[in-house]
Order: sequence, then structure tokens, then C-alpha cells
Amino acid sequence: MLQGKRILLIVSGGIAAYKALELVRRLRERGAEVRAILTKGGAEFITPLSLSALTEDRVYSDLFSLTDEAEMGHIQLSRAADLLVVAPATADILAKMTAGIADDLATTALLATDKPVLVAPAMNVRMWQHAATQENIGRLRERGVHIVGPNKGPMACGEFGPGRMAEVMEIIAAIERRLGTAGALAGRKALVTSGPTHEPIDPVRYIANRSSGRQGHAIAEAFAAAGAETLLVSGPVSLDDPPGVRVIKVESAREMLEACLAALPVDVAVGAAAVADWRVAGVPTQKLKKKAELPELKLEENPDILAQIARHREARPRLVIGFAAETERVAEQGRAKRQRKGCDWILANDVSAESGTFGGADNEITLIDDSGAETWPRLSKHAVARRLVERVARHLASESKR
Ligand code: C5P
Repeated sequence: MLQGKRILLIVSGGIAAYKALELVRRLRERGAEVRAILTKGGAEFITPLSLSALTEDRVYSDLFSLTDEAEMGHIQLSRAADLLVVAPATADILAKMTAGIADDLATTALLATDKPVLVAPAMNVRMWQHAATQENIGRLRERGVHIVGPNKGPMACGEFGPGRMAEVMEIIAAIERRLGTAGALAGRKALVTSGPTHEPIDPVRYIANRSSGRQGHAIAEAFAAAGAETLLVSGPVSLDDPPGVRVIKVESAREMLEACLAALPVDVAVGAAAVADWRVAGVPTQKLKKKAELPELKLEENPDILAQIARHREARPRLVIGFAAETERVAEQGRAKRQRKGCDWILANDVSAESGTFGGADNEITLIDDSGAETWPRLSKHAVARRLVERVARHLASESKR
């Protein structure tokens, strides 16, 4: 619910502007008060009248209107909101935000605000992929601007790819997360690893494993839905990025370790990735040629990411959670793994061929903590994720009270 929350919606010029009308309706249904700024470009796509009818307020558009300044100046406009939402956000407005350009009411309000800002980019796929836009998005994100979408799909311009504005309900979910109206983990930081790692043999070949990343991705999604600021460090998977989650894509175990260590400190870390135990020593820079004799692969040990996080001297998360994929004596092996890795909880799961866990939709979990073992019923990976996140929220809340 968004009861009593004040949202300043900035509608810039793009074909997706029509979805802004639906967004206003859905926000108001949830009890939010919505004020709208329509840019000149935005007004080419929707009329001030329709926006005004839905917000039940006047629509602001002119920076130098004296009556606006008398009734509500641009500074006030942006400060009297709990959140600024730019939807759709064109490449142009994102560039102006990055550079701090204020040449109309919308960009001036964005520069003058001290409130959180959420943007829903929408543009042609090539404009989205252009280095300039990607750099701008990176810098805005570093500054704490929240970004929802864009999604992949067919576009109004006839092309296909990322660039479509996120769906209205996705934007609403991002707003609720940002305003902390949805989450038991608001204000907490979570780090999740997911997927397999790829360990190069030469520039074109690699060693991999069968992890699909579904469990790890579901956990990251559940953390974000509970309001945690969530970073997912993922090996190569064929899954979409979960909504509301910042994703760093890596290939090898060493890259995964580096990304995880750079993410600390966090409140909770979950190692759901199937990290390769070994990598090939001395990877050649050129592709191995087929010769009469077979090539010899010498293996060396990869870093244990979970153990390094759990034994981190300066920034050990308050809760470190690992997985133990076992094919037999699941609880017993899980207990031993908990000790060995130095983590707080182990989710031991049965990955024997008959369990269908790898790549499947379900998981059978035994949770092992310092007080013992608890076996959960067979659940979907999403349900496992929600149950885990609820438990994490309870644990962190009880710890804070102590
Ligand atoms: O030792 P094993 O691979 O069975 O341990 C599984 C747990 O440890 C998982 O949580 C996995 O993500 C993590 N792990 C890791 N780095 C490794 C190996 C495993 O983080 N090199």
C-alpha cells in the first residue's frame, strides 16, 4: 500500500508515455497522491488534460510560469514529494540528469530535489545500448538513483531488444520497495551468488556445471521484494535478471570472488552459486590446436568464496548462508560443511538424480544452524526463497533487539 505517499511523476517524451496514465491510476488506487510534470516531449504523446483528470490536480509543465512560482515553486514541487518517478525516462532526460542540466521544469525539479528518484527508461534499443546511455545509467545508479527496466521485447519502432519501459506493475513494485512500504528487510543489504562458473581451458573452451541459477535468482528476488538492497553476483545463466535487483555478471570463480568482496559490507550473504572447485592452470592465450597427442589439463584449486566471506576479518556479514548439494546423508554432510566453511546456516539439499533438483523447479531443503537441523517440505524454488528470506528477517530483527 502507498497510503498517503506523495509521488511526483515526471512524464518525458516517448511512446511509452501512454503507460504513465495507467501508472497514475494504479498509484492512486493504492492511496498515493500523485502530482505530475509533463515535459514538452511528453506532451507530444499524451495531453495535459488526461493526466490532470487522473491526478485530479493541475499538470505542471512551465518552468517560468509566475502563477506556478507563486503557488508552488519548482523547489517546493520536488521537495513536497516522498519520491520522484520519471516514467518514461528518455535517453535525453537521463543524460541531462547525469550532467546536472536544468533547462525545463522537469530537469530543474530533478536537480533541486533531495528526495529519492526512480527512473523507468524507455527508448529505442540502440539508444539504450549506446555507450553514452550505459555510462549515464551507471553513474546515476552510483548516485543512488533507482532504475526499473527496461524490458526486452518488440518495440514500437519495429526493433526487438531491451528498451521497452517496465510494466506498470513492475514500476509499482519498485516504488513500494523504494518507499519501504513493502518490506521487512528495508534498509538491509543482501548479497547473493547464483549460477555456475565457467572456468576457461583456452579462449574458446571452458569447464562448467549444470547449475541453472534458478534457486539463487529466486532468493535475490525474494530479498528485493522484502525491501533489501540486493546485489546478485551471477555466473552465466539463461535467466532474466530478477526485478529490483542489481546484477553483476561474471564468468569464473575468481571474478565472482572479486565482485563479492567488493560488495561488502552487507547484512546477509547467501552463496547459492555452484562454484567450480577447480580451474585450469596456465590457460593459454591462443586456442589449443588439435594435435596427435592429447592436451593435458592441469587443475588448480579455486578460492572458496563462501568461506572467504564467512571468515572475513573486517566485514563479515551478520549472517552468512551456504548451500550444500548432497546426494546422500544430506543433514550430516551439511553439518560438516557448516563447520568447514564457517558459515551460520547451511541449506542442505538433495541433488541425487532421482530428486530432480538440478534445473528443476523444486527443492528439498534441510536447514542447519547452530541449534540443529530442520527439514522443510518439498517446495518450489520460489517458495524456498521466500521462506528463507522470512527467516533471515526474523533473525536480523531479533538480533537487533538484543
Ligand atoms: O564445498 P561445496 O561446493 O559443497 O560448498 C557449497 C557452498 O559453498 C555453496 O554455498 C557454494 O555457493 C559455496 N562455494 C563457494 N566457493 C567455492 C565452492 C563453494 O562459495 N569455491
